[in-house]
Amino acid sequence: TAIPEIRTALLAWFDASGRELPWRLGTEGARDPYRVWVAEILLQQTQVARGLHYYDRFLEAFPDVRALAEAPIEAVLKAWEGCGYYARARNLHRAAKAIVQNGFPGDYGGWLALPGVGPYTAAAVASLAFGGACAVNDGNVRRVLARLYGEARPTDAWIQARADALLCPARPGAWNEAVMDLGATVCTPKAPRCAECPLSAHCAALASGTPTSFPAPKVR
Ligand code: ADE
Repeated sequence: TAIPEIRTALLAWFDASGRELPWRLGTEGARDPYRVWVAEILLQQTQVARGLHYYDRFLEAFPDVRALAEAPIEAVLKAWEGCGYYARARNLHRAAKAIVQNGFPGDYGGWLALPGVGPYTAAAVASLAFGGACAVNDGNVRRVLARLYGEARPTDAWIQARADALLCPARPGAWNEAVMDLGATVCTPKAPRCAECPLSAHCAALASGTPTSFPAPKVR
């Protein structure tokens, strides 16, 4: 299979062209779990470009998990203003109190047990901050993999299986960020920049001549 070539090509692209984002400070696979966790919660419903401002504001108000846990809920909701979905802010606050009690979870299952943390966020934090071998599955990942393999109607199980098989065991956090960055900046929904794509030689959707027909629009 082409899996080793795909890993090498995408990670080289990521090392050269990945985005510099504020939660990517620190060593790959050992980033500050607080910063990564807050970012991933924020980015659940907010695009990166719009989220950056809110992220900086929230981190300024609550620079670490203790500051967040000890703040009154009103201050947390105030710092969340503009982000919408206030349940996320309430869950952040509740989870911060649990983390101050028990420490940061170090693996996928531990993160999943915290309020507001679902499979996507648990996989993201476990891989980015702890080097866990967990493949993330979000809208960008779905589109990138559907195109790479020419699958018009990927099920969640199909995406997870492909994502698990591709995940680079040596650099799981970087791999996850690389797929997300590729989906956000190159393998975009409407006008993908296939000429700049490090995976173009492997891409079934590009070979088909109509890359944007993968994945097919969801039928309701
Ligand atoms: N979208 C959600 N989380 C992300 C991350 N860590 N990097 C890039 N895009 C993202």
